Amino acid sequence: MIAKYNAKISGTGMYVPDKILNNFDMEKIVDTSDEWIRTRTGMSERRISSKDQAVSDLAYEASLKALQSAHLKPKDIDMIIVGTITSDHAFPSTACILQKKLGLKNFPAFDISAGCTGWIYAANIAKQYIENGIAKNILVVGVETLTKITNYTDRNTCVLFGDGAGATIISRAETKDISKIIDTEISADGTHYDLLIQQAGGSRMPASKESVEKNLHTVYMEGNKIFKLAVRSMFNACEVVLKRNKLDVQSIDWLITHQANMRIIQSLGKKLKIDEKKVIVNIEKYANTSAATVPMALDEAIKSGKIRHGDLVLMASFGAGLTSGSLLIRL
Ligand code: ACO
Repeated sequence: MIAKYNAKISGTGMYVPDKILNNFDMEKIVDTSDEWIRTRTGMSERRISSKDQAVSDLAYEASLKALQSAHLKPKDIDMIIVGTITSDHAFPSTACILQKKLGLKNFPAFDISAGCTGWIYAANIAKQYIENGIAKNILVVGVETLTKITNYTDRNTCVLFGDGAGATIISRAETKDISKIIDTEISADGTHYDLLIQQAGGSRMPASKESVEKNLHTVYMEGNKIFKLAVRSMFNACEVVLKRNKLDVQSIDWLITHQANMRIIQSLGKKLKIDEKKVIVNIEKYANTSAATVPMALDEAIKSGKIRHGDLVLMASFGAGLTSGSLLIRL
């Protein structure tokens, strides 16, 4: 496809619930320690949504902030794509619920299920709708309430997850704009789909009394197998866009990767040979918020003045599927 227009990120916003669960709180729930969690994952605390807070509530708050930062009104939006695996309901999509919350209708709104890569998958799709001229301002959200499907008796997983939302507006760039989504790559390797899975609640194993008793509706993850695959697939996704655009890693101003484990972030940084000062990390505050980690980290880094207009930012993620992807932008 020959692009008619360029796409750019014109606004960002994030929202996290107020309730904080720190590592010392986790010590009271399962057989773990602050020391183990910090040294093995880099996490210190995570946010927990309240009983009456669903994914669309978090997405709505983050979306309002993204609209504000893009200097747009809800009526300027002409498409909504939400990356999530913890939607309000199995159906309808969270994007449709978000559309109603924003007082909008009569344009496409849909969810993407790509685990932690959900926001990058959604941004990849949005870029194409902007470039072909069909849409002008797309609301792209990565949002998750993984703590609602976390088994708090399983220490292997329960310390890892937190809730949050990262929203972005992907807009048509003006011809004179230096801001641009330069390139993006998405991929999947379904041969490992069962390493990270919510086993019950779908058509393979409909929800039953037994499935709930066995906690099969919660996150099942073979963490150490995923660890190696995470580094390799995010590295490949980054390499593809760097090579395709004839860019050296030294020219990248900032790297934002999925915040699943500090050791994964460091291993990827080392493999890419990027200066560690250029790597954005906020895992200690929010833990793994799945599809929300990358847009939340992007928003925080922009709002704190770290990432500035004109900077070259490489983003990468990895998650259930197993999916992976990257996004290269000039902000
Ligand atoms: N506290 C104390 N000990 C623990 C805990 C805990 N919370 N969790 C595990 N352990 C123990 C294990 O029982 C094991 O003990 P053993 O040696 O006596 O059997 C030991 O620690 C080592 O366990 P490992 O699983 O080998 O620990 P590892 O160093 O691999 O860290 C972790 C585990 C943090 C899960 C890591 O493997 C990881 O981050 N994996 C990748 C996760 C990821 O990227 N997921 C994808 C995205 S998530 C998404 O899409 C929703």
